[in-house]
Amino acid sequence: MKKNKFILLAVVQACLLSVPAVVAADPDNGTTSPSRTDDSHMDWWREARFGMFIHWGLYSVQGGEWKGKDYGKEQGGASAEWLMNSANIPKEEYRNTLAPKFNPTEFDAEKWVSTAKQAGMKYMVITSKHHDGFCLFETKATDYNVMEATPFQRDIIKELSQECAKQGIKFGVYYSQFKDWYHRSRGRGNAGTLSTEEYLKLVETNLDELLSNYGEMAVLWFDVGGNDVIEANAQGARVRELQPNAVICSRLYSRRVPVGQRTYADFESLPDRMLPKKRMTEDTETCMTMRHNWGYDRTDDAWKSPKDIIEFTALCAARGVNLLLNVGPTPEGTLVPEEIERLKEVGQWMEVNGESIYGTHYSPVDYDFWWGAMTQKDKTLYLHVLEWKPEGIEFNGIVGKPSKAYFLADPKREALPVSYDASGNVTSIEVPAKALDTRDTVIAVEYDAPIVTDPDAKGKYHWYTNRRMRHTDIRESNRAGRQSLPQAVTGE
Ligand code: GLC
Repeated sequence: MKKNKFILLAVVQACLLSVPAVVAADPDNGTTSPSRTDDSHMDWWREARFGMFIHWGLYSVQGGEWKGKDYGKEQGGASAEWLMNSANIPKEEYRNTLAPKFNPTEFDAEKWVSTAKQAGMKYMVITSKHHDGFCLFETKATDYNVMEATPFQRDIIKELSQECAKQGIKFGVYYSQFKDWYHRSRGRGNAGTLSTEEYLKLVETNLDELLSNYGEMAVLWFDVGGNDVIEANAQGARVRELQPNAVICSRLYSRRVPVGQRTYADFESLPDRMLPKKRMTEDTETCMTMRHNWGYDRTDDAWKSPKDIIEFTALCAARGVNLLLNVGPTPEGTLVPEEIERLKEVGQWMEVNGESIYGTHYSPVDYDFWWGAMTQKDKTLYLHVLEWKPEGIEFNGIVGKPSKAYFLADPKREALPVSYDASGNVTSIEVPAKALDTRDTVIAVEYDAPIVTDPDAKGKYHWYTNRRMRHTDIRESNRAGRQSLPQAVTGE
């Protein structure tokens, strides 16, 4: 009887694994455009798991400071790139002060793209227009753009898109479609001049340009939707028309728009800097900063450690979520040294352990473990050991003894001793006293047959269960959260 249940489960699981986001693949649930017959345009995105987010614009010149005051701190979820709004700067003053200073002569698309590539990132999304309304690309819709308003006069979107195509990185743009403090006659203290109708025309022109002039546009990362679904749908439809394979971010719509009505959203974007609390069965992405700010900030030293970032990458994969990791380049056009350092370290880890991230599926069990979490690819589990347990790594919930377990970091892939207790479906792996990699040692666990979970298995989430990850308190809150939990590997 029990055996039959397992066979049935294996079949269900096999189906689940071939279509990672079963729910998102269903055109009736509203997360995929009704005009689509399949969602194969999502394949690369699901494989990718890890991308680079870039916040760069006029605000970068100020580095979070205006008239001697530091605005690059928490402003209700915003930061350095919100300067115009936070410091209440009139739009012409903002433009006249910052645009002439925007001359990032050290900008080198080749360097940015190769840095992302070496970090193991598979896609890149840059702010083509943020809330300050400034366009980093050539446009006929407004003269408030990099070609006409700044001494730099180089189309940043063009240079990056070409370089990404050259280096095989998917390229996409962030576009603030609703909030535009410069052009639109809405917004606190910074009333723009265009009526809604005129403004929508500007957006239309911008989108047509972005979708027509830069080759493949892999991601349209809209940000902060308004409540008007018709407006959002028209923009989504235009993307589909001009770039049918572009992956569209759910922020095309306001969070108030019910999920079922977000017709053109391909993936759910979690709120800023939020790690998923548990595994997500629909296509989901989280965007995360390396320090507090998105845009460049001179004084922000709330850097997350390389270990934090590696943990995010592993836990996001284990919870079925893409990680879009942000950099905020300098006004000179370079990445910040601390960013480069972290990206290098992540890249080195990825080179050894990438197979436990790319193309993996969320954990087969709906919980994680005191030592970390697992990802899955076909008949292999990858245990991401974030906290070493010299007494051994144990997990419950998977039926049957693995055929082999080994460290991904071991070039010889020597088998580790494994035991299996069928009564509780607990698998134990013997490990050396010291971690091979204190950031995340990955153990590959192979099975001969498709992986089967025990439907009665119990466990809970131990890692990053707080809703929002902010500032430097990340590790402390994570630790504190886990310390209050029972240490038992097999859950309650
Ligand atoms: C928010 C902020 C914005 C930032 C974005 C990143 O929507 O308004 O400043 O660009 O999140 O996800």
